[in-house]
Amino acid sequence: MNGRSCYKRVLLKLSGETLIGDKKYGIDSATAAFIAAEVVKAAETGVQIAIVIGGGNIFRGVQASVEGIERASADYMGMLATVINALALQNALEELGLQTRVQSAIEMKEVAEAYIRRKAIRHLEKGRIVIFAAGTGNPYFTTDTAAALRAMEIGADVVLKGTRVNGIYTADPEKNPGANKFSEISYIDVLKRGLDVMDSTAITLCMDNNLPIVVFSIKNEDNIKNLIEGNKIGTTILKQATASTV
Ligand code: GTP
Repeated sequence: MNGRSCYKRVLLKLSGETLIGDKKYGIDSATAAFIAAEVVKAAETGVQIAIVIGGGNIFRGVQASVEGIERASADYMGMLATVINALALQNALEELGLQTRVQSAIEMKEVAEAYIRRKAIRHLEKGRIVIFAAGTGNPYFTTDTAAALRAMEIGADVVLKGTRVNGIYTADPEKNPGANKFSEISYIDVLKRGLDVMDSTAITLCMDNNLPIVVFSIKNEDNIKNLIEGNKIGTTILKQATASTV
């Protein structure tokens, strides 16, 4: 526990789409400012925050590979897109007075620090927000898997996965209005039911290391702060679910 926070350290996973706002592509600066303000409120609780951001608002590796670009190359292009998003988010956070560091899994020293686990932890201890860019640095891995991996490496207490939807449903709520939301669900049920929330590598990594994941809507104001203060929001994925759908 740290100040008003229930956690010492959290890993916030944001998809690239969270920066898109009403645009069809790229970064909407008002949306980036909104997310940054949400992170500021969360940081004021005293929690240490690391962020992994995706790149889908700029480039979708998997889709591009379907369309003919070789998969590994497409994935590297996607990783580069995450670096663009990381720099945009860093800028938005620093506009609001937070100290930040971007660390990239692909070395590009003119642009960002290289990923060094112990250095990342040191930054976090000093109250800096650390943004991990370029995924895991490897093709065939998603940024969700990067989030799970980095969370484990830095000893985060939880992965907070911000999405457009406020949790995990029995079916896609945007297509099935009758779908029910889970308040808790086990890792194994997510895998068995094939719920499209995080890829199976990321879920399995969290399951094997008993790292809880909370899936929540990034669109609702104060959600990150409220989660960090211990309020029940979205869906928690853990070893043994005690509650089911709500
Ligand atoms: P302390 O060691 O805690 O003082 O951390 P620090 O990050 O303030 O120290 P450092 O001197 O390593 O970094 C100063 C600034 O340079 C920070 O904004 C870093 O993000 C940046 N920086 C450090 N290493 C690199 C690098 O390899 N590439 C780039 N582009 N920036 C770097």
